[in-house]
Amino acid sequence: MSVSVLFVCLGNICRSPLAEGVFRHKAGEAELTDHFRIDSAGTGGWHVGDLPDTRGRQAAGSRGIDMSTQRARQLEGEDFHTFDFIFAMDQSNLANIERLKPPNGKAQCMLFLEFAGHGAGEVPDPYYGGADGFDSCLDLIEAGCEEILERLAKNYSAGSGSNA
Ligand code: 4NP
Repeated sequence: MSVSVLFVCLGNICRSPLAEGVFRHKAGEAELTDHFRIDSAGTGGWHVGDLPDTRGRQAAGSRGIDMSTQRARQLEGEDFHTFDFIFAMDQSNLANIERLKPPNGKAQCMLFLEFAGHGAGEVPDPYYGGADGFDSCLDLIEAGCEEILERLAKNYSAGSGSNA
């Protein structure tokens, strides 16, 4: 069993790298690292190659999550063929993802918090705010990642691989 998850926001320096780092951290704690391929990307290309935002790395670091090896990249057509799930952090991200999705793309594209069971909730963009915005963003992302990890681990543990 292996499930591939791609977290997507606009710039890939704030929200989706936090989700990638948190999900990898929690999968590691649950000893499920080998069962997942975990990545993140942005629909925009302005920050390609950049480290995640310093405020986000500090907020994550204070929770024991290391994001120092992550670099921003842009969502590409191939992602729709190689990932099982593409999780959008807000509605605008999801609209951009749907627009870029090739007709034969296999990835299931949906809102991150919706798949996590939070209705159609969005993770607000903390880019233009202060450091505290990153902490509340992390609270939402930690809760969402825990729920998604549990849901995917449960649905795939029987080896069916397709009923998430
Ligand atoms: P993100 O936040 O989508 O959560 O990575 C943003 C980061 C940068 C920009 C926009 C959103 N930007 O316009 O540069």
